[in-house]
Amino acid sequence: MTGAVVTPPDVPGAHFVGNQACFYCHTNYVRSFAASAHARIHLAQLQTAAGASSERGSDFHGCESCHGPGSKHIEAGGGRGRFIVNPGRNPDACLECHVQIRAEFALPHHHPVIEGRMNCVQCHDPHGGDIMERAGGLAMARVNETCAECHREQTRPFVFEHEAMREGCTVCHNPHGSINRMMLVQSDQNLCLRCHAQTQGPGVPPGEFIIGRTPHGALMQMGTCWAAGCHSEVHGSSMHPRMLF
Ligand code: HEC
Ligand code: HEC
Ligand code: HEC
Ligand code: HEC
Ligand code: HEC
Ligand code: HEC
Ligand code: HEC
Repeated sequence: MTGAVVTPPDVPGAHFVGNQACFYCHTNYVRSFAASAHARIHLAQLQTAAGASSERGSDFHGCESCHGPGSKHIEAGGGRGRFIVNPGRNPDACLECHVQIRAEFALPHHHPVIEGRMNCVQCHDPHGGDIMERAGGLAMARVNETCAECHREQTRPFVFEHEAMREGCTVCHNPHGSINRMMLVQSDQNLCLRCHAQTQGPGVPPGEFIIGRTPHGALMQMGTCWAAGCHSEVHGSSMHPRMLF
């Protein structure tokens, strides 16, 4: 669980009618959506929290968890801006439930979602069978594809690739926000040392340590591993195999 609470948005005067009521006019969405986390989990939670929303109708799982109760929208014959919430314009509908995610977007370094310069659905497909698909799901390569839509420079092909990229951008970046600049998951050399263990041993003087084949003791005093003059082209390089430039 990711700490989501169940507080669907409201449409004054409307009540919940259930997914099947949307089917006739929005057939494709209803079909693809059946397998998604939102379709499944709200149904389960309704059963455990029986009656929680009974005054607004009993069947609020699925479509209406994000779009609000749909009865007035349907009575009006549907239409844009007609008694229905569109969270594509305002992520508040998502963040009412995903309170932890709201906190991530409030961290000092974050994607400008709250500011309205981008939206959750540029990384998460709300109607697909798996809302995590574009954000990775089972295949981490997909994360890179999603990020590549806006960040070409880091995702273009390089002569000298950094193999870390194969595990996805999120091994180094938090996609929502972080206390660290550049939304890094760690701000110092530990970001790299998770995968590039330093070796000590016979013949290595105390205080010195080796990364790869190179003594790094003195180098590490100079700043982060990706500081100017070091591995500054951390996403890959077409000039230098150690990604120095
Ligand atoms: C996880 C939240 C969520 C759920 C659940 C959800 N939607 Fe959506 N829906 C959105 C968002 C976000 C947008 C705006 C998409 C965009 O701007 O690309 C949207 C847009 C729409 C639109 C307008 C599309 C357009 O042309 O602009 C329709 C119609 C729609 N949803 C119907 C449905 C139906 C029917 C269901 C249930 C099968 C459903 N939605 C379930 C979040 C959701
Ligand atoms: C009688 C047909 C009909 C039914 C039933 C219906 N809608 Fe719609 N809905 C429409 C039409 C028409 C539009 C305008 C779409 C367009 O112009 O492409 C629309 C638009 C929307 C939008 C976009 C609103 C916006 O302001 O951008 C959402 C979201 C939506 N519907 C959700 C739902 C949900 C959820 C249900 C089920 C509870 C539902 N609709 C049931 C006909 C219907
Ligand atoms: C009515 C409450 C509610 C709303 C509104 C809502 N969600 Fe969710 N969402 C949940 C719940 C509950 C789960 C499943 C339980 C969990 O993982 O916390 C979930 C699951 C998810 C997941 C998958 C998490 C995983 O680990 O698989 C994503 C991604 C997500 N929501 C994004 C969104 C986005 C984007 C929106 C708005 C377009 C949205 N949600 C709107 C309640 C909501
Ligand atoms: C820049 C792309 C991006 C945007 C924008 C984005 N997400 Fe995500 N989100 C991701 C990625 C990537 C993951 C997977 C993280 C991982 O695997 O470490 C994720 C994971 C999640 C999860 C499940 C894991 C968790 O951290 O709880 C939820 C829920 C979620 N996002 C909700 C949202 C909501 C709500 C919004 C909008 C307010 C949003 N996201 C905007 C990329 C994004
Ligand atoms: C829809 C476009 C879009 C997508 C998709 C996207 N980003 Fe971004 N990204 C932005 C914008 C806009 C900024 C803010 C740039 C600014 O403030 O000048 C940003 C900023 C960043 C920054 C900080 C750069 C800086 O100079 O501070 C990083 C790191 C980043 N994104 C990584 C990612 C990762 C990783 C993903 C995939 C999970 C991703 N982005 C997906 C649009 C996007
Ligand atoms: C091995 C760790 C690592 C991986 C994997 C990684 N990044 Fe980065 N990224 C960094 C570091 C470190 C910085 C900070 C560079 C700096 O300070 O100049 C950075 C900076 C950025 C920036 C800011 C602009 C810049 O280049 O300085 C963007 C945008 C970005 N990364 C996007 C991505 C995307 C998109 C992916 C996945 C395709 C990705 N990163 C994968 C470590 C990583
Ligand atoms: C997810 C694991 C992972 C992370 C995190 C990671 N790397 Fe890598 N890196 C690799 C792998 C795997 C290789 C290729 C095998 C090797 O040379 O060790 C590699 C190769 C390299 C190389 C080329 C080594 C050579 O001798 O050709 C450099 C330089 C490098 N990484 C620097 C960094 C820096 C700097 C960071 C932190 C910003 C970092 N790496 C974070 C996995 C990672």
